[in-house]
Amino acid sequence: MTERNENKKNALITGGAKGIGAAISETLAREGYHVFINYFRSHDEARALQERIVNAGGSADLFAADITSQKEVKQMITEVILASNNKLDVLVNNAGIAQWGLLTTTEEEVWERIISVNLTSAYRLCRSVLPLMIRRGSGSILNVASVWGTYEGCSEASCETAYASSKSGLIGLTRSLACEVAPAGIRVNAVAPGVINTDMLKDFTAEEIAALCEETPMCRVGEPQEVAEAVAFLVSDKASFITGQVLGVDGGFRG
Ligand code: NAI
Repeated sequence: MTERNENKKNALITGGAKGIGAAISETLAREGYHVFINYFRSHDEARALQERIVNAGGSADLFAADITSQKEVKQMITEVILASNNKLDVLVNNAGIAQWGLLTTTEEEVWERIISVNLTSAYRLCRSVLPLMIRRGSGSILNVASVWGTYEGCSEASCETAYASSKSGLIGLTRSLACEVAPAGIRVNAVAPGVINTDMLKDFTAEEIAALCEETPMCRVGEPQEVAEAVAFLVSDKASFITGQVLGVDGGFRG
C-alpha cells in the first residue's frame, strides 16, 4: 500500500495494470486521484505501474482479483472501502476480453466467459460500490465499451457476436443505470474505443491492422492514452452535467 492523502479523490480501475487500463490508472493518478488498480494476472505490470505512479508523485494500491468471482470482488471492495475511508469517487469498468469466431463455433463456455468478464462483472462492481456512492450523494462510473457495441458498430461486427453482445449490453447498462442513479447525484458514462494499440490486437496480422487503419478516417490506430484522456474528462467535474453518454474514441471509425 502507498500513502494516501485523505483529501484525494479515489478511483478504482478494473484491469488497470495494462493496455488502456494502465493508461487510465496513470492519467487519473497524475490528475490527483489515489488509484486502486485491480489486476488479474499482470502482477509484474501492476508492480511496475505502481512504481511509475509513485515515482511521479502519485499514489496507488494494487488489488489482484478475478472480477468474474463474486468472492474475490467482495473481498476487493471491502479492502477498497476500508482503505478509502468509505470514499470511492470513481469506478472505471475497463477489464475486458475479446474473441473472434463464428457464432456456430462459439462454445457456450466461451460465450459465458465473455459476457461474464465484459458485462456481468460491470453489474457486480456497480452493485458493490453504489450503496457507498448513494450514501455520499456523489460518484462517477465509467464503462469501457467498444465501437463494436454501438448501434453502427454492431452491424459490422461479423464473427464477434459474443463481444459485440457484451459491449452492447454494457452500453444498455450505462444508459439505464445513468437514469436510475442520476437523482442520487451519480453519473454513469461510457467510452466506445475504436481500434487501439494494445495486446488486444496481438493476434492480428500486420495486413489486418493496415486494413483497420484504412477503414479509420484518421488512417491510424489509437493509443491507450487517447482513450484515457476521454475517460479522465468524463469522470471529472468538468463533465458534471454529462450522464448516460457513450463517447466514441475512434478516429472516426464506426466498425
Ligand atoms: P488488454 O488485453 O491489454 O487489457 C484487458 C485488461 O482486462 C487486462 O488488464 C486484463 O488483465 C483485464 N482482465 C481480463 N479478464 C479479467 C478478469 N477476469 N478480472 C480482472 N481483470 C481482467 O486490452 P485493452 O485493449 O487494454 O482492453 C481494455 C478495454 O478496452 C476492454 O474492455 C476492451 O474490450 C476495450 N476495448 C479495446 C479496444 C482495442 O482495440 N484495444 C477497442 C475497444 C474496446
